[in-house]
Amino acid sequence: MQAPAPHVTITLLGIESSCDDTSAAVVRWSSDGGARVLSNVVAGQTELHAAYGGVVPEIAARAHAEKLDLVVETALAQADLPLRALDGIAVTAGPGLIGGVLSGVMCAKGLAIGAGLPLIGVNHLAGHALTPRLTDGLAFPYLMLLVSGGHCQFLLVEAADRFHRLGGTIDDAPGEAFDKTARLLALPQPGGPHVERVAAEGDAKRFKFPRPLLDRPGCDMSFSGLKTALLRARNACMTDQNGLRQQDRADLCAGFQAAVSDVLVEKSRRAIALYMERDPAEPTLAVAGGVAANGVIRVGLDALCRESGVRFTAPPLALCTDNAAMIAWAGIERARLGQFDDMTLTARPRWPLDTLQASMLGSGKKGAKA
Ligand code: KG4
Ligand code: ZN
Repeated sequence: MQAPAPHVTITLLGIESSCDDTSAAVVRWSSDGGARVLSNVVAGQTELHAAYGGVVPEIAARAHAEKLDLVVETALAQADLPLRALDGIAVTAGPGLIGGVLSGVMCAKGLAIGAGLPLIGVNHLAGHALTPRLTDGLAFPYLMLLVSGGHCQFLLVEAADRFHRLGGTIDDAPGEAFDKTARLLALPQPGGPHVERVAAEGDAKRFKFPRPLLDRPGCDMSFSGLKTALLRARNACMTDQNGLRQQDRADLCAGFQAAVSDVLVEKSRRAIALYMERDPAEPTLAVAGGVAANGVIRVGLDALCRESGVRFTAPPLALCTDNAAMIAWAGIERARLGQFDDMTLTARPRWPLDTLQASMLGSGKKGAKA
């Protein structure tokens, strides 16, 4: 009789600082079943940027540099582990705002040298894309729709280090469009949740908003024209009535939200068709990113998945938005493949996941798009 395989665990500290959240987390994977988030500490910067209507890279970088030590200390304390109990340090090495990414990479290098631990550089988008394996144990290949303030793309996740981009936004991310809509209607930032709340009282059919790129084949999307359409409709209302009524605001929000939802659902239908050509064993669409919190979008995607015979899943919101647990987890996936970095690891503002495809153009308020 063969001796049972030895029980292996990998425990990593993850560090994330690519945009406006400073985060550190400890995640443990165990060969006898699953993974556990032992801590996940996120220090946001919303109030630091509130006066500027978007993330200011220099302010973000300075705040990351100030907060990193503290969030790492707190994450270790909450996990009840000393640094020497870890098996390595995983850090976001891009894509993102370069000052913040650099702060995180330098912090991780210092910790790795000081504690004599291996260093693993993680692609932030891989962090988002691999999260459903941490939360739901998804099998490859699955389809991921990443929709946030900075990203919007369909990814076919084939392996922990193999991603195929089926399409993405050619200009703004949907979250940016929600935030801009909120600004135009004098609602607070970040705008998504407020637009959704106000839209609940509105008539989505009153204003005719475009469904950009639906007339073109493929999975690419565009959201910047939608913002302009909203601006025009708002201005027309204000001129006609000498001001904006509460009902106008609700109808504008509802119309805008319905247009975003229709585009995401229809493009998802096409992405699912391409994905199904791979004949996946357990067909699944996973969403991640802040916009995935939107109820109307979720309901639309859920209905599409039912109709298509595909499972629909969304990680809990704390793991959907930017966080370090996803970075620690993606680091664990790399460690299991034997992929480590050394002190030559560099911070990369751009880092497309799918290196075989031409990179998307543009740079949003949350940094360069991958
Ligand atoms: O993933 P996330 O926390 O940060 C990054 O963009 O990386 O996403 C934040 C974005 C913001 O633009 C916010 O307005 C949007 O997600 N958002 C929403 C909702 N909740 C957050 N958009 C639409 N509906 C929501 N309920
Ligand atoms: Zn992100």
